[in-house]
This record gives sequence, structure tokens and C-alpha cells, in this order.
Amino acid sequence: MSRHKVFVTRPLPPVAEPLIKRLRQTCEVEIWPSMDDPAPTAEKIRSLDGLATYGHEPITDAMMASAPNLKVISNIGVGHDHIDSEAARRRGVAVGNTPGVLSGATADMTFALLLAGGRLLGPSSRYVRARQWRSYDPNLFWGCEVHHSTIGIVGMGRIGYEVAKRARGFDMKILYYKRNRREDWERELGMRYAPLNELLEASDFVTLHAPMSPETKEMIGAAELKRMKRTAVLVNAARGGIVDHAALHEALTSGEIAAAALDVTEPEPLPFDSPLIDLDNCFIAPHLGSATVETRLKMIEMALENLMAGLNGKPLPYSFLERT
Ligand code: DGY
Repeated sequence: MSRHKVFVTRPLPPVAEPLIKRLRQTCEVEIWPSMDDPAPTAEKIRSLDGLATYGHEPITDAMMASAPNLKVISNIGVGHDHIDSEAARRRGVAVGNTPGVLSGATADMTFALLLAGGRLLGPSSRYVRARQWRSYDPNLFWGCEVHHSTIGIVGMGRIGYEVAKRARGFDMKILYYKRNRREDWERELGMRYAPLNELLEASDFVTLHAPMSPETKEMIGAAELKRMKRTAVLVNAARGGIVDHAALHEALTSGEIAAAALDVTEPEPLPFDSPLIDLDNCFIAPHLGSATVETRLKMIEMALENLMAGLNGKPLPYSFLERT
């Protein structure tokens, strides 16, 4: 019997080697070796049985159309906006992702961003690094209080829920916005549903956790930023495209909001000449939400389980979409 052909779009870390070794027992596995040169996925896909996406490279209908043997696309990550899932469903290609496992790590990162934005950790650490800290100056870097402030969580899925749990530990008042209310979680966590505009107007910290979709594209634009408090901090740990970056730059430079802390941008990476990079009130991390040893390894493990299941024509253990 011929071995399944599998392609992984980016290098996997050495700690994942035992998992890859297991996959190689039954599959012919090619792992693209470069982070800098994008994988030639459109060309590779034509002869594949299984594809693992690591990163957010677009997988289009046309690419799937050119791949007669493709059985499964396994995304190492929860967000799947880069994969044309409807086309996959139509074509009978299973698509898997890694939900749940990264919610805790991403919520931790959200709080790291929230604290960094609120307590000015970006500019203050640059100040120390620049050898400007010559005497203790109690008038420097006054940030805003996190505890007992109001957090507005936009998108109340698994990650939003974890963020709300952490917010309780900081004695924050919690507002959330979601298309469908979660009254069970409202009761459990003592949080309140608010329409988006009300949430924007009332929150000291607005954190974004909605999936990227045509409905959420640039849902935070000039009008929404104007509604926020001038002292507010915007945190984005979801997808860069949810925020209009030109409007964000304007809001940060004109003082419409106090700060932003972003783990995601549009595009990624940000071009080196992006004006956001040099703003002292814009803290930017290079998409690290789920980047802990435990979580990333578990994500790879789940994705490889999905891959094996799909190759063997079985239902994927972790998926938002099943082959019909
Ligand atoms: C996710 O899981 O979607 C993260 O963005 C990492 O890819």
C-alpha cells in the first residue's frame, strides 16, 4: 500500500520530533524547512493526501481543486479564517483545528497585554534599556489602574470566558458582547451583556476575542474608537483584521484612546515602516497568544491526531467542520 503524502507548511520545533517520528511510520512527511521563505503550498498540495498548516497561509478553493487526493487539512491553531472551509466541505475535504487547548494560554497573554498597555511596560522598559534611568523619578510612567476597573470583552467564546475568569481575580467589572448571549456564563462569572456601543463607552479595557469573519472585519474602526474613553486601552488577541489599523493609529496619536496592546496585526508581520511600531502607546507582540511550551506542543499533537484520522477516513477528533 502506498504511503500517504503529507506536507507541513513550516518547521516544527525539535521538541515535536517524537510526534513527527510517529507520523513518519505511516506517512511520507515533508516539512517545509524555512520560516522566511513561504512554503510553495499551492504547488505541493497537488500531490498531497494531507496538509498541516502551521501559520496562517491561505488555503483556497482553487488550491483544493488542484489536489485530487487531498483528504484532510489540519490546522495547528484554532483560528481557521485562512482556510476556505466552505470549499473544503463541498469537496469532501475534512478540516481540523485545535480548539480549547489554547484558551488558557491566550487568556494569560491577553492579561499580559492588558497590564503592559495599562501600566506602560513598553515605553518604561525602553527607557531603562536606553540608559535613561538616572534617578528614581516618582512622576514617571503613571499608568491606569487595572483592579476594580471595567473590562469589555468582545467575543465570548472559550477564550473570552477564560479572560473573564481572570478579570474576576482583578475585581474588575465585566461587560461582554457576543452575537448570542451566554446567560449561564453571566450567572457563573457575574458579568453583564452589553451592546457593542455601550461596552465601548463604558470600558476601561476593551479586549477582542471574536473570530475573523466578514462580519467582524474592521468591526473596530474610527467610529468605534471614538466611542471609547480617552483613558481606555484596546487589547487585540484575536485577529489583526478586526481592527482598522489606520483608524487605530489616528486614535492613538490624537489621544482618542490612551493605548493599544496588540498580539495580532494586519498584515502579519507588520511592515517595518508601519507607523504603529514607533508609537510609545502601542505595545505590539509578534502573535504569541498560544506560545507556551505546553500549549504549542499539545496543539501539534492534536493537529497530528486530526491528520491521521483524516487520512484514515475517520471523523476528526477536533474539528469545527466534518467531511460530508
Ligand atoms: C490560533 O490558534 O488561531 C492562533 O492564532 C495561532 O495560530
